[in-house]
Amino acid sequence: MGLSLEYINSTTLLNPEEINGLKITSISTQGEIDEFEQQNIEKAIQWTFGKKLTAETLISEKFILAIHRKMFSDVWKWAGEFRKSEKNLGIPSYKIQSELKMLLDDTLYWIQNGTYTKDEICIRFKHRLVSIHCFANGNGRHSRLMADLISESIFRNPVFSWGTRTLTSSIQAREYYLSAINSADQLDYEPLIKFAKS
Ligand SMILES: Nc1ncnc2c1ncn2[C@@H]1O[C@H](COP(=O)(O)OP(=O)(O)OP(=O)(O)O)[C@@H](O)[C@H]1O
Ligand SMILES: [Mg+2]
Repeated sequence: MGLSLEYINSTTLLNPEEINGLKITSISTQGEIDEFEQQNIEKAIQWTFGKKLTAETLISEKFILAIHRKMFSDVWKWAGEFRKSEKNLGIPSYKIQSELKMLLDDTLYWIQNGTYTKDEICIRFKHRLVSIHCFANGNGRHSRLMADLISESIFRNPVFSWGTRTLTSSIQAREYYLSAINSADQLDYEPLIKFAKS
């Protein structure tokens, strides 16, 4: 296929098989993919409205897969399927399911016991989820939506703004986001919490 995909820093590459999973044959640029994905994600958000999302429903492998499928299945065949390839980010693919299980168990425990503030629980969950990197692509957007859903449905707090209110350019927001992720990698979650609420 004649599709050339360009990636900026800190994103992952799709392998040829994953690129072949593109469902819309008329797409020819990364910009068009971004647009179709964005429309698909908006449909997924609509799908969550009016659903009764308890902690047990949301913090489960079933929901993690279902929401990724809802977000990306108009565009990609591998939507809602665990990653089978190795990426420059994330853990080895064979460990995904067991690491995710540990994250889900930990998160349910934090919620039940109030181990951290509500914001910190959302952000710790988001960061460990994107670090596992469950899917071939869309992990960042999936992890941010999951954090929003936990905040809204479980904690009755607003969704996060992810830098859209204070950071004027998307480049500036991206830089801040990636440096906050680096801090979270060093177990300092404050910058990522601050970014998520800015
Ligand atoms: N060092 C890191 N540790 C953990 N997560 C990271 C790291 N660097 C980047 N990430 C996350 O991984 C995302 C890229 O993964 P992927 O391409 O699957 O997600 P995406 O939804 O397509 O991207 P985006 O988050 O830019 O919308 C980054 O956006 C960021 O959220
Ligand atoms: Mg990506």
